[in-house]
Amino acid sequence: MKAHPINDRIFALHADIESDELFEGIWPIPNGVSLNSYLVKGGKLALIDLVRDWVDAPLALEEELEGIGVRLEDIDYLVLNHLEPDHSGWLEEFRERNPAVQIIATAKGVELVKSFYKITEGLRAVKSGDSLDLGEGVVLRFEEAPNVHWPETMVTFEAGSGVLFSCDAFGGYGALGDRIFDDQFEGEELGFFEGEVVRYYSNIVASFSLFVKRAIAKLASLDIKVVAPSHGLVWRRDPKAIIDLYQRLATYMEGPQEKEISIVWGSMYGNTKRGLDAVIAGIEAEGLPYTIHRIPDEDVSFVLADVYKSAGVVIAMPTYEYKMFPPMANVLNLFERKHIWNRQALRIGSWGWVGGARKEYEELVAPLKWESLESLEWAGAPDADTLDELYERGRELARRVKAI
Ligand code: FEO
Repeated sequence: MKAHPINDRIFALHADIESDELFEGIWPIPNGVSLNSYLVKGGKLALIDLVRDWVDAPLALEEELEGIGVRLEDIDYLVLNHLEPDHSGWLEEFRERNPAVQIIATAKGVELVKSFYKITEGLRAVKSGDSLDLGEGVVLRFEEAPNVHWPETMVTFEAGSGVLFSCDAFGGYGALGDRIFDDQFEGEELGFFEGEVVRYYSNIVASFSLFVKRAIAKLASLDIKVVAPSHGLVWRRDPKAIIDLYQRLATYMEGPQEKEISIVWGSMYGNTKRGLDAVIAGIEAEGLPYTIHRIPDEDVSFVLADVYKSAGVVIAMPTYEYKMFPPMANVLNLFERKHIWNRQALRIGSWGWVGGARKEYEELVAPLKWESLESLEWAGAPDADTLDELYERGRELARRVKAI
């Protein structure tokens, strides 16, 4: 990889991580993820955001810096917008290589530098409105953006160029390869990265949607010409596109969401699936788009990506040992954590010798503020009357989603 100039003073650096190791220890990255850093040159040199020692990311960073004639030891300032270890994990070794570097973060960020890395010297805490003059007309200005993604997070803006270094905000999954700018992708390729933004947002950022809205409002007065996040594409052709996408994603928490239905289902011996097929026929009769996810076969990362943007949800699962099909409990728990609120919902499922899923289900969805159709459960295989009812439930759910 090589450094990519954003202009003659700002360079994008990135390490593509392609690994079976889960992101945050939870989320699969079958398409990889990039860890982005930025080198800003005035009279002094600032590196914005670091990497974790993961799949040779430090080596990639060092080689890209060398490619533009910068040694690690030359860097004067390390700006840490956010202390999650994907952007700071290599800090101890970096500091050993460059003991003179000044580390800049918010006050809360400085505390995290101390607690994570036991570094206590050469730290500078900044707050909203503070700036760092690198000389030769290059000035970095800091703006706190709490909880996008952790409480200590800030963004950095270089007004002369209009480059916003936004860290996790406006980021997405997906390795980049040799092309890093939005204008280097069109059509399906660009759509792929937008899809990976949605999955990343639903997995990582969704819980903090309120703070995303606040941060976007706070940044509205800036003349942003380039959005340079810490994961995914650098948006220079159309920075508004990624800001608008994040605004829309933040709105999905409360609604309205897209007029589509996400179906999440599990079945032990096919009886719940037979009932679900009737629901799907009802949805199709109304002509509403839907996605379908079988658990636990499909990782919940992908389930979240679709459910997060859908106004309608179908939960289909059998009773299992007097309670819910266990993988569904995990899914619903994550729905609560990720604020999958205000959906039109339908729950269906079969039971063997006795029901029991209902109580646990209702407890888990209570915080979600869902508007639910009457649930439908049946013993064993669904009979013809049950299938008719399920078909009608599917139609009714689709009609409700269309009406929002
Ligand atoms: Fe990419 Fe919250 O770290």
